[in-house]
Amino acid sequence: MMTFIIEHLEKKVYPWCVIEYKHISSIVGKKNLWITNNSDTKLKKCARLFRKSVKTMKLEKTCVLDPDADKELKPNDAKKFQYFVFGGILGDYPPRKRTKKELKIKSERRNLGKQQMATDNAVYVAKEILNGRKLSKLQFQDGVEIKTGKKESVQLPYKYVLVKGKPLICKELINRLKKQKGF
Ligand SMILES: C[S@@+](CC[C@H](N)C(=O)[O-])C[C@H]1O[C@@H](n2cnc3c(N)ncnc32)[C@H](O)[C@@H]1O
Repeated sequence: MMTFIIEHLEKKVYPWCVIEYKHISSIVGKKNLWITNNSDTKLKKCARLFRKSVKTMKLEKTCVLDPDADKELKPNDAKKFQYFVFGGILGDYPPRKRTKKELKIKSERRNLGKQQMATDNAVYVAKEILNGRKLSKLQFQDGVEIKTGKKESVQLPYKYVLVKGKPLICKELINRLKKQKGF
C-alpha cells in the first residue's frame, strides 16, 4: 500500500493550505494521506494527522518528491517505496529550493520534471506515475491566469498538469483568489 505524506512546512495552516490539502485528500483518499508536522485539527477530516515531523519518524522505503532531485519518478518506484513525501509549501517564484533545504530526511529523492508544481498537482502526477503512466505521457501547461475582476487577474507561475484538457486547480482555490484578489 502506498502512503502519501505532506510535511507541513509553512508557519501556519493558512486557508489556502486547508483548501489544497482537502484537494489532495480527494485525489489520493483520506486513508492514504498523512499530514505531518502539524497540530491543527482543522485538517482532521482529510488525513491522518501527526504533530511530529516526518524527519523524526524514521520510516523505511521512503521517497521525497523534490524538483531538485537528480532522478525522475518512474512507475517501477511503486514497488521500491512505500511512503512518498511532499513539502506542504506554497510555491515561490523563482523557486528557493525549500524542498531540498527543509525536507532533509534519510531517503531517496525523485523529481516530476524540474519545474515546480503546486503540491496538489505534484501529488496527482506522482499518483499517475505510480499507477503506471509515464511522465512523458502526461500533458502540462505553464502557468495559469485566474480572472479576479473585469480587468484584474492573478498569475500562478507554476506548471499545471492537464486533466481532460484543463489545468488541475480546485474550484475552492479559484473562488478564494477571486474574493481575496490573491493569496
Ligand atoms: C510548490 S512546491 C514547493 C517548491 C519550492 N519552491 C522548492 O523550490 O522546493 C510544493 C511541493 O510539491 C512537490 N513538487 C512540486 N513540483 C515538483 C517537481 N517538479 N518534482 C518533484 N516534486 C515536486 C515537492 O514535494 C514540493 O515540496
